[in-house]
Amino acid sequence: MTIAIGADHGGFHLKQVIICHLKEQGKEVLDFGTYSCDSCDYPDYAVPVCEAVLSGQADFGILICGTGIGMSISANKIPGIRCALLGDVYSAKATRLHNDTNVMALGGRVVGEGLALELVDAFLGTEFSGEARHMARINKIAALEKR
Ligand code: RB5
Repeated sequence: MTIAIGADHGGFHLKQVIICHLKEQGKEVLDFGTYSCDSCDYPDYAVPVCEAVLSGQADFGILICGTGIGMSISANKIPGIRCALLGDVYSAKATRLHNDTNVMALGGRVVGEGLALELVDAFLGTEFSGEARHMARINKIAALEKR
């Protein structure tokens, strides 16, 4: 499994922790930055991560900013991306089962490292259910992108 990851300065530290965790699991990681704690703009990192997912270069994306909100807003502007801002394990599993989300967002100033790694594992470890009612809803989301 290949994971694209990106963060702004508010998510930089947590990004490094998650990268180590993913590599320990044998996953391939594409790190799109940021590469320091210097202030930067979260949309600049959301875009390459989402493009890697859409192109098939990566299976999933992980985006981290201070709250996760700016990253999730940015990612969800990109057609084909369904990004969930996560803070609990139930939602991390449910959003994969129900929404077939392809990107997750985290708040580096909100969640602790232990919870963040549980969220990553729950998200990446859960398959989309493929059930017709969920497919229909996802198709309606896709239709919203054409409005
Ligand atoms: C940066 O200070 C902060 O605004 C950003 O990381 C994020 O929380 C925005 O949603």
